[in-house]
Amino acid sequence: MNIDANYKITANELQNKVILVTGANRGLGRAAVLDLAQAGALVVMLGRDFGGLEAVYDEVVSAGFQEPFLYPLDLEGATPQNYQQLQADILDNFGRLDGLILNAATLGTLMPIEQYDIKIWYSTMQINLNAAFMLTQFLLPPLKQSVDARILFLSSAVGRTARAYWGAYGVSKFALEGLSKTLSEELEKTNIRVNSLDPGAMKTKMRRDAYPAENADKNPLPSAKSPAIVYLMGEKSKGLNGEKLVIN
Ligand SMILES: NC(=O)c1ccc[n+]([C@@H]2O[C@H](COP(=O)([O-])OP(=O)(O)OC[C@H]3O[C@@H](n4cnc5c(N)ncnc54)[C@H](OP(=O)(O)O)[C@@H]3O)[C@@H](O)[C@H]2O)c1
Repeated sequence: MNIDANYKITANELQNKVILVTGANRGLGRAAVLDLAQAGALVVMLGRDFGGLEAVYDEVVSAGFQEPFLYPLDLEGATPQNYQQLQADILDNFGRLDGLILNAATLGTLMPIEQYDIKIWYSTMQINLNAAFMLTQFLLPPLKQSVDARILFLSSAVGRTARAYWGAYGVSKFALEGLSKTLSEELEKTNIRVNSLDPGAMKTKMRRDAYPAENADKNPLPSAKSPAIVYLMGEKSKGLNGEKLVIN
């Protein structure tokens, strides 16, 4: 299902919402933080690069938006205890969570399965899939405290149609699609809507790493895609559940 890239954010449409974004320090995560904050949300910014998180925090505050909450965590090494602590911190500070945006990802490496580096396979699966599973599991209690909550898994075209050499990245995105659909069925009768989103090509580090020879300027900036994420966190998208979304 297509989501309009030209969604117009209205002030305060996400007022009183608490929304957690992973990989919030750069790329699409950073753009989403700025747009969610513009729409009035209190954003919990999770990432491993504290300096990068602080720089985005400064951008949000100098724009006059609500002060975000910084949450430094490396998803590769994070343990169930770290996620338990995150759950406690969210419940203690806010009493609930209204949105969970599972955006952080690593490309791993592009090579045939026959030669794929096993350590890179493990780390890519840990960051892209296992961390998303554990974050979701531990954040379901605060999400259930919301009157209208969203979980959004950032996916990719290579997680919907297999492409040679995309290895662990592609496989992790296929698995995220399965996780999204399974969870959407399990939560169908609750206040939580669960969808996956392919944002399409964007001018970010990940895209540069995947396509080093292309002209990077042919791809839109992540800020051209992030308004759609505001739409997907808000009241107007309440009817969407278990969908494979794409931004057009
Ligand atoms: N760019 C595209 O063309 C494109 C196309 C389709 C789908 N997507 C998807 O869109 C999402 C955003 O992509 P992007 O292009 O914005 O990627 P990006 O610029 O490479 O940013 C990735 C983010 O994930 C974080 N991250 C990676 N490993 C982490 C770890 N171990 N712990 C915590 N955070 C970690 C990075 O933090 P650090 O700065 O610390 O590394 C960064 O904030 C991803 O899910 C991607 O798969 C992107």
